[in-house]
Amino acid sequence: MTKQNDSKTKEIDKRIPEISHEGWGLVHGDYYAQLSNQQIMLEDTERTGMYHQSITLNMKDFMDKVVMDVGAGSGILSFFAAHAGARKVYAIEATEMANHAHTLVKANGLSGQIEVIQEKIEDLQLPEKVDIIVSEPMGIFLVHERMMEVYALARERWLKPDGKMFPSKGRIFLAPFTDNYLHSSHVTKTRFWENTEFYSIDVSSLAGTALSNYFSKPFVGPVDQNTLMAEPSSHEFNFLTVAPKDYAQFKIELNFTATSTGLMHGLAGWFDVHFEGTSYLGHLSTAPSSPATHWLQIRFLFEQPIAMNIGQKFSGTVSMTANNGRSYNMSLEGKLEDTDISIKQDFYLQNHQYWWHSSSKSEDAEPNPENYGLHTIPILQAKSRFSQK
Ligand SMILES: C[S@@+](CC[C@H](N)C(=O)[O-])C[C@H]1O[C@@H](n2cnc3c(N)ncnc32)[C@H](O)[C@@H]1O
Repeated sequence: MTKQNDSKTKEIDKRIPEISHEGWGLVHGDYYAQLSNQQIMLEDTERTGMYHQSITLNMKDFMDKVVMDVGAGSGILSFFAAHAGARKVYAIEATEMANHAHTLVKANGLSGQIEVIQEKIEDLQLPEKVDIIVSEPMGIFLVHERMMEVYALARERWLKPDGKMFPSKGRIFLAPFTDNYLHSSHVTKTRFWENTEFYSIDVSSLAGTALSNYFSKPFVGPVDQNTLMAEPSSHEFNFLTVAPKDYAQFKIELNFTATSTGLMHGLAGWFDVHFEGTSYLGHLSTAPSSPATHWLQIRFLFEQPIAMNIGQKFSGTVSMTANNGRSYNMSLEGKLEDTDISIKQDFYLQNHQYWWHSSSKSEDAEPNPENYGLHTIPILQAKSRFSQK
């Protein structure tokens, strides 16, 4: 590496916040130490069922192997690995939840097979490398919480060459959506800042700032797939090769061709992961068209909607930069092809809020206020693990 390149790398490294251990403890540590919060994940049957299927239907991969469970929580994935024939499972969990995992291991007579270690992956010492790593490190939009970096770090330090990862691949998806109710509700809220006589004070000088502030917060909730206006664009991570630093800054390229005519109010996002075992290929999707999970979907709302005609193309980029809130600053730039219409807008993934209503296209044409309550959400049982943070 040349001196010039070296100093450039150092400069970039300075801009990319390290995962702060202290911050992690404050933001998520207490959360994951509680059984009720682990239960939210355990009871997500799409999630837990797919891990169970992908591990136990790939017994060939696990038989007599040494396994590491990265962020073991209650130890559920360690149990699946032990049941699939693993000789030894290291269940690594940073929080006090490790004590509960230990209790379960003992009560189920698996102390000889599963060793629970309360430690951060970053500080871990082990006597040996492992054949397989299992983990559930996915946050909202895959990367919120920045645990994907921990998963990559565990592989770099502890996986044998040619070892396996469960899951082995993940993709982030974005697609344009239309939802007039969501958009107009938030425009209405920002109107407060147009007030010129609020207790005789003119607050309108903050109107523009308030608008950007409101619209920089993503909305987590169920998305009706009928509101999507194009096939999604995606960004893939190969968990067998991605380096922790690759998550610090990455770009999602957008290339949409409108499949319907209407107003594009923003981008809807979700993710999937793949389990590429020898005997069984597992797929866990959090798409609007898939059965609901506790991750739900996420939406990034445009300050100004963009009208698209069927067949029209929209292209752009979402630049993702990791931040000290164990999340991401997101910067969108896009353009409606063959027009002067473009968009530039910032979002902060950690500032997400919950929005439980997703308009269907027909509702959008004529909003029915009765449909806007929580009771109309067909989403289930899917309590989000993130909603209580
Ligand atoms: C999403 S939960 C998954 C829990 C469990 N594996 C499951 O599937 O139900 C992630 C777990 O990883 C733990 N964790 C997060 N970062 C970690 C780190 N750096 N080292 C060890 N554990 C970590 C959290 O405390 C949490 O219990």
